[in-house]
Amino acid sequence: MTEPIHTDLPQLRVGKHTARLPIIQGGMGIRISGARLAGAVAKEGAVGVIASVALGIKSSYYKKKKDYFEANKLALRDEIAMARKTAPDGVIGVNCMVAITDYEAMSRTAAENGANLIISGAGLPLQLPSFTKDFPDCALVPIVSTAKAAQVLCRRWEGTHGRLPDAFVVENPNTAGGHLGASREQLGDPVYNLEKVIPEIIEYLDSEGYDIPVLAAGGVWDRTDIDRMFEHGASGVQMATRFVCTHECDADDVFKLQFLKRKPSDVVIVDSPAGLPGRAIGTELVQRIQDGGKVAMQCFANCLKKCLCRDDKTTFCIAYALDKAVRGNLEEGLFFTGSNLARSESIVSVRELLEELCEALTPAQAPALV
Ligand SMILES: Cc1cc2nc3c(=O)[nH]c(=O)nc-3n(C[C@H](O)[C@H](O)[C@H](O)COP(=O)(O)O)c2cc1C
Repeated sequence: MTEPIHTDLPQLRVGKHTARLPIIQGGMGIRISGARLAGAVAKEGAVGVIASVALGIKSSYYKKKKDYFEANKLALRDEIAMARKTAPDGVIGVNCMVAITDYEAMSRTAAENGANLIISGAGLPLQLPSFTKDFPDCALVPIVSTAKAAQVLCRRWEGTHGRLPDAFVVENPNTAGGHLGASREQLGDPVYNLEKVIPEIIEYLDSEGYDIPVLAAGGVWDRTDIDRMFEHGASGVQMATRFVCTHECDADDVFKLQFLKRKPSDVVIVDSPAGLPGRAIGTELVQRIQDGGKVAMQCFANCLKKCLCRDDKTTFCIAYALDKAVRGNLEEGLFFTGSNLARSESIVSVRELLEELCEALTPAQAPALV
């Protein structure tokens, strides 16, 4: 058995689960964070998260379009089992986005198959507790970008479901990757800075007497950033872009190499068919989208509840573009990234990354493990 990573950072408690390292590897769809990455992260003592969106497309359960929803459920069941095999005692989460068509089915499947937590954003997860009510050990963690959203969720969950979130991930749309919790016009507004929003949420939670951990996401890159988030009251961080350049990340090497090659100016905002802006690498596809050139428009999987491509015949098919990206297709792929893309320097193991982030102490220096 390998030695656990020692650190002076505190443990992270979310609901009934405790991770030795207060770092959540953010869910990255489609299939950028699957069982391989999530299992490796959970094995080392942090929280590994499988992104549930469109997991089935590459599975043996998917033969044609009509198999899509069933294949997603079966593939999620298999991915959770695989990650659990790698990290039998680790904390394993599933990311479920409110905006996807099979949000309810994927949330139920995650809980039924032993996910320790569900992290849920891309919309307000108002109904999530009703999907998982038979699985009280499954912790529920909404992603929000404002104190207002955290307040609405607490009130609605308490009133309707008689419970509160087990933690909040606070995601800064000015830095995070993927779909963002602000409109294109709002992007860049310092009102979303984590140093501002985290204390606001903590003040609200304290005023209500709620003991709910708040986790910082978006632009967190190194130990200095982690320490700064703790200084502002966070109990942990969620990081995604940093985990792309790991050997265990489930994406094709071409995907990872883009992160090593690109400069800060290659990070762009695209208008997703979900009606939200997304942060991505300015690949050939993005250029064509911006120039009004030819892009794949045929609805690939009916993956979104509201879709500008399917419903209005505008934009592009996002399932098709994200699936091409994870397979390393530069011409047709949409490569989501956080604003820190160009800081990626090399591909390392998950253990090396977590040791660096935790500034691993020698066993003699470390506080006793409890
Ligand atoms: C490639 C990529 C894919 C992502 N996919 C998802 C997703 O499927 N669901 C989700 O809620 N967030 C998604 N995100 C957001 C991350 O989970 C995370 O909260 C955010 O990127 C944190 O900022 P950072 O990348 O600067 O660490 C994605 C981010 C990246 C970089």
